[in-house]
Amino acid sequence: MINKTAAIIAGAGSGHRLGADLPKALVKLVDKTLVEHAAAALAPVAELIIVTAPSGFEDKFKELLGDQVTVITGGVLRSDSIRLALAQIPANYEFVLVHDAARAMASTQLAQNIVAELVNGEQAVIPALEVVDTIKEVDAGGYVRGTPDRSALRAVQTPQGFVKSVLAHAHSSAEDATDDAALVEAVGIKVKVINGEERALKITTKSDLIRATQLLLPNTEKQIRVGIGTDAHAFSSDSSRKLWLAGLLWDGEVGLDGHSDGDVAAHAICDALLSAANLGDLGSNFGISDPKYAGASDATLLTETFNKVSAAGYEIKNVAVQIVGNRPKIGPRRSEAINAISKALNGAAVS
Ligand code: CTP
Ligand code: MG
Repeated sequence: MINKTAAIIAGAGSGHRLGADLPKALVKLVDKTLVEHAAAALAPVAELIIVTAPSGFEDKFKELLGDQVTVITGGVLRSDSIRLALAQIPANYEFVLVHDAARAMASTQLAQNIVAELVNGEQAVIPALEVVDTIKEVDAGGYVRGTPDRSALRAVQTPQGFVKSVLAHAHSSAEDATDDAALVEAVGIKVKVINGEERALKITTKSDLIRATQLLLPNTEKQIRVGIGTDAHAFSSDSSRKLWLAGLLWDGEVGLDGHSDGDVAAHAICDALLSAANLGDLGSNFGISDPKYAGASDATLLTETFNKVSAAGYEIKNVAVQIVGNRPKIGPRRSEAINAISKALNGAAVS
């Protein structure tokens, strides 16, 4: 795309209604702060991102957002913050997305849909949802003045997209508005409305934060898979057989019977990992009919299992293993064993 897009993320508010002891943009939502979520969603769409920070928090914002994002001090009102950011955008940018850090969960896809409309020739594009409640207009005395037709009403979100010159013109008057589109409308520009998304909700109160967490977490949870494996081998009647256990060679101990080196701990781990990834079990992956695995070392099986699980798109987060047996005494070599297993699994956490 030749059209250059800049994004402004308004994050300079105090978050009074959320009531945290930090500015709202610095409040954590699952794994990162609201402003980090917002910046990550816009990064694939915008060549330049300018974030407005509350005075005194600029360094904290910079530390979280890194070099790819420009952090400036925001203004008193939201529109002041936007105007200050707008002044920082070089002339060669054609489009501007204006987004709220408070809508941390808006997707990259939504931003792409907005830009696509601008590329198509629209001058101002906003995402919105149909309203579910009937809305009343109420006078200062608390009486209903009227009931607008609900089917014509929309609840507006961000990111909102504008041709840069249009937005600059709209902001040249010192008006305040909770929404940039309102300023653009006021100068007579047609504003196109596209479908918004539920996840682009504005995080204003504690219950919004809980709702946003719920929207974010099911996806994370779906990806966490847990598997269990067990294995049992008898001590060998061949007293010359070496004992391999938990990735270590145990001198002076009689080994375990088995097609491979008989490391029960490694085998149980492989079974657990393969089952978590729904890839079958040790037998179906490294069958005894396959001469390749006769006498195979535990490290080979663990590493091959790691490769299969990784190739299926999974990352190993944690491995826990228990060894039940009369001997050898595991305790003195526990950390050596943990390191050996972890190394064979490309550094996974093992206990
Ligand atoms: N904002 C801004 N500069 C201001 C005021 C607000 O950049 N002077 C930003 C906020 O950080 C927020 C977005 O504008 O991401 C929308 O504002 P709002 O949701 O009202 O956030 P706050 O003003 O921080 O919250 P509150 O009104 O509860 O204090
Ligand atoms: Mg506010």
